Amino acid sequence: MKFPFKKKTTTPDTLKVPEHVAIIMDGNGRWAKNRGLPRAAGHRAGADSVREIVRSCDKLGIKYLTLYAFSSENWNRPEKEVTMLMGLLEKFLKDKLPEMLEDNVRLRAIGRLDMLPAHVRAELDNAIEKTSKNTAVTMTLALSYGGREEIVDAAKSIAEAVNKGELSTDQITNDLFSSHLYTSDIPDPDLLIRTSGEVRLSNFLLWQLSYAEIVITSKNWPEFRHDELVTALEEYSRRDRRFGKVKPCNA
Ligand code: IPE
Ligand code: IPE
Ligand code: MG
Repeated sequence: MKFPFKKKTTTPDTLKVPEHVAIIMDGNGRWAKNRGLPRAAGHRAGADSVREIVRSCDKLGIKYLTLYAFSSENWNRPEKEVTMLMGLLEKFLKDKLPEMLEDNVRLRAIGRLDMLPAHVRAELDNAIEKTSKNTAVTMTLALSYGGREEIVDAAKSIAEAVNKGELSTDQITNDLFSSHLYTSDIPDPDLLIRTSGEVRLSNFLLWQLSYAEIVITSKNWPEFRHDELVTALEEYSRRDRRFGKVKPCNA
């Protein structure tokens, strides 16, 4: 299938391209409800947005894409929905592997992955292994992921290193702490996008988003495609990232 770029086929010269974009893919249920469809249809349509966005990232020069796909709190949804989501995730990983290979995408996952059902874990491990040498976009799926859980896991692993005498407390710095997070090998996101209009983090990348620019769009995830990503980058490009400093011209 030809990649369906619509209007925004060119990248404006003024567009600042972030190295790492993180997305809270929200609104699949509402998208389906608006169309009188079951929630599962929304999650399936959302899977199509994933491919388009990962390919857009490659075209635009974004190296890292991190997608919030299932949160620690999502385990508290009705059992029927959790089972459906796990089934769709397994199918997504199986069906999309050839596309990920074709698109040269490297897949990673973060979260408490040991909580995933064995059949999902097997597909995930397989897709991660098969795509590990790919060099285009690194796509990280946050699965059974919670920012607080990640910080707790990092604190535990640091405490263990201290207990074993491998580390002293005065060696615990921001960088050391970051190196114990699930994301130790990828840079912090420059841009966080949340779809469906909600203005909250919902326990996503609490440490890593410290200085990310945040763009909220009212579009639901299944309708978030290339053009919407470019619109978010345009908004990002207008932001002045000061990191707590004073701009030289104002000093
Ligand atoms: C996002 O869509 C996907 C997951 C959280 C798994 P939702 O399922 O949260 O959709 P809404 O928010 O109910 O519309
Ligand atoms: C956040 O969406 C989690 C994912 C997109 C995977 P939710 O729909 O679960 O978040 P809340 O409940 O609106 O905060
Ligand atoms: Mg939601």
